[in-house]
Amino acid sequence: MSIPKRRVVDPEKNRLDEREAPLYFPRPSRRQHDRVDADRREGLSLCRLYMPMKKSVLTAQGLCVDRGGRRVLNEVSFSVGQGEVFALLGGNGAGKSTTLLTFLGFIRPSGGRVSINGMVVHENKAAIRQQTAYLPESASLYAHLSARENLKYFLALAGVNRSSAEIEHALDTVSLASDARSRRLASYSKGMRQKVTIALAVLRKTPVLLLDEPTSGLDPVAIDEINAILIALAEAGTTILMVTHDVYGACHVARRVGLLQQGQMVGIFEAPENGQISAEDLHRTFAEHNGR
Ligand SMILES: Nc1ncnc2c1ncn2[C@@H]1O[C@H](COP(=O)(O)OP(=O)(O)OP(=O)(O)O)[C@@H](O)[C@H]1O
Ligand SMILES: [Mg+2]
Repeated sequence: MSIPKRRVVDPEKNRLDEREAPLYFPRPSRRQHDRVDADRREGLSLCRLYMPMKKSVLTAQGLCVDRGGRRVLNEVSFSVGQGEVFALLGGNGAGKSTTLLTFLGFIRPSGGRVSINGMVVHENKAAIRQQTAYLPESASLYAHLSARENLKYFLALAGVNRSSAEIEHALDTVSLASDARSRRLASYSKGMRQKVTIALAVLRKTPVLLLDEPTSGLDPVAIDEINAILIALAEAGTTILMVTHDVYGACHVARRVGLLQQGQMVGIFEAPENGQISAEDLHRTFAEHNGR
C-alpha cells in the first residue's frame, strides 16, 4: 500500500506533541486509537504513535497576542522537539515574526503561554535569552567592519567570550571564504552577510535558534548552503524554529511546517517517514488559504 504524500495534521489532533518533555508517548487514549485506525486505513505506519518522542523544547499553547489593539495571534498551538527544525510559513502579516518575538519574551501573550524547556517565557526572560539565539528579519551588521570584527564586537556586546579559533570554526561552519573574512562587509554579497549573522548565532552556542527569514533575498545556491547549515545544526541537537516564505526550502529543511493565516495555525504539515513534505501540496494549501 502506498503512503500518501500529503500529511496535514490538524492542530487540535497535534496536542499530543504539546506535552511538556515526555520521553515516550503514554498509553494511547481512545481518541488516539481512533486516529491509529484512521492511519491504518490510510496505510500509514503505526510507529509514529509508539516510537520514542523527542523532548519538546519549544511549546506554544493556545497562544493569543494583541498588538495595536488587534488580535494578531489567536489560539496558536504547536511544539518543536529537540533537534527538530520547525518552519512557520504564512502570508505577510500572518503573525510569524510576532510568534518568534513572543518566544523571546519581547511580546507578552494576551492569552495562553509559550515555554522553552519547560520554562514559561515571560516568567524566565533572562534564562530564556541565555538559551536562545535570534536572527532578526533584518540583522544589521557594521559595513565598515570585517566578518571577524563584527563577530568579536557583537559577541562582546552579548557578553560572550569566544576564542579566535572558535570564530574561525564558526566561519568554516557557514562556509565563508577565508580570503573574505578580514574584508569590510561593505564588499560582501547579501548571502555572505547572512552567513556572518548565522555564524554569530552559531557562536552563541545556544540550544535554541529562532530564525526570521534566514534565506530571504538569497540566490538558490546560497539558500541551499544556509539550509545545509541548518540541517547540520539540527542534527547536532540544536532546536530550530524558523520563519520563511520559501516553500521549497521549508520542505527541504523541516520535518514539520506550520501554516499561519491571519494569526491562526490552519494546519501543520508533517513529513512522511523517510520522506519530505510535498512542496507542491504545501504551496497549493498556502494559496488556497490565502484566497488565490
Ligand atoms: N509594532 C507593531 N504594532 C502594532 N501592530 C503590529 C506591530 N508589528 C506588527 N504588527 C501587526 O501584527 C500582525 C502580524 O505581524 P508580523 O510582523 O508578525 O507578521 P509576519 O507574518 O511576520 O509578516 P511578514 O511576512 O510580512 O514579515 C500584522 O497585522 C502587523 O500589522
Ligand atoms: Mg515577519
